[in-house]
Amino acid sequence: MFVEKYRPKKFSDIAGQKSALKELISWMNTWGTDKKACLLYGPPGNGKTTSVYVLADEMNLEIIEMNASDKRNAEAIEKIVGNASQTYSLDGRKRIIVLDEADNIYGSVDKGGVRTLAKIITETKVPIVLIANEHWNVSPSIREKCKMINYPKLRYTSIARVLKDIAKKEGINVSDSQIIDLAKNSEGNLRSAINDLENYREDIDKIGTLRDTKTSIFHAIAEVFKRRSCDVREVFWNMDKSPDEILLWIDENLPKVYEKEDLEGAYKMLSRADIYLARTKRRQQYKLWGYAMDLMSSGVSVARKGNFKFAKFSSPSYFTKLARTKAERTIRKDITQKISKKCHCSTRVAKQYLT
Ligand SMILES: Nc1ncnc2c1ncn2[C@@H]1O[C@H](COP(=O)(O)OP(=O)(O)O)[C@@H](O)[C@H]1O
Ligand SMILES: [Mg+2]
Repeated sequence: MFVEKYRPKKFSDIAGQKSALKELISWMNTWGTDKKACLLYGPPGNGKTTSVYVLADEMNLEIIEMNASDKRNAEAIEKIVGNASQTYSLDGRKRIIVLDEADNIYGSVDKGGVRTLAKIITETKVPIVLIANEHWNVSPSIREKCKMINYPKLRYTSIARVLKDIAKKEGINVSDSQIIDLAKNSEGNLRSAINDLENYREDIDKIGTLRDTKTSIFHAIAEVFKRRSCDVREVFWNMDKSPDEILLWIDENLPKVYEKEDLEGAYKMLSRADIYLARTKRRQQYKLWGYAMDLMSSGVSVARKGNFKFAKFSSPSYFTKLARTKAERTIRKDITQKISKKCHCSTRVAKQYLT
């Protein structure tokens, strides 16, 4: 995955966000004199999570990534926050606690969670970074305890620059105007722009090597369905397809081979794998990938109890559907943007008016 491969390693690799980074660094450098937590907020895919990791790297901090929606985790955070001996890691490095998706966690429903977090921030001996897309979804009692750091939407010119750089390094043959198109299309989300570029590359590759890739994925899913063994986990390891794509292939062909309880069991594995994939992306924890891959290969393979029934496999209808509905999706996007402009709401909210 390009987003992983080209994830910034140093501050200077991060596109835009100059003033946000300056604030973040100065907050960290003067920690203890002012607010004990900071809240990085802004639209997705513009470098919030990345900049915390870069900060930790450059300042040699140990990152403790936690999710406070879960009570056990909240207790674990309190422990780290309250106990001075735990403010340093075993190897003597300083720690920093990161709570990603703070807007989802501390919604208005979970009042107890909000109170706990407010208390944690008041008492903490460890710097805490909260990350959210929309800061007004974070409770005011939390916000007032945080230094607010805005990560504005990236300009398409900044996005284009990053894409061009990656295209050059990867030897992808893409014109400047195509880069600009990709950049504008991403609506400020560099993550999705980079993913688009990668898919675009795969599309070009497919034209050249359609037969090879087809036989290999067909062969791999046949192995999974046929062998009923945990060993099949290896069949996807050397495949040039992303886990998401492999999942779609299995999803498409599973009902042709499996029946009744077997099908139910296999889909359970697949939906688990899907959850892990989503988490991989959201939390950028790439080790979860391995679990997702195991679930969709070995998990699906051993879910079959009945006999193997041969079937003709096909490519995921999702791709053909995407191609077919492109015009419709473009119109939808246009309308959503207009609603959002006139009604002064986010496009996400505007989308709800449409459906
Ligand atoms: N400002 C940026 N400069 C360079 N790459 C970026 C930037 N923002 C996002 N990216 C790319 O997108 C990916 C996801 O970025 P991330 O920091 O997780 O976004 P978010 O703001 O949603 O936390 C990164 O791995 C990186 O490849
Ligand atoms: Mg993030």
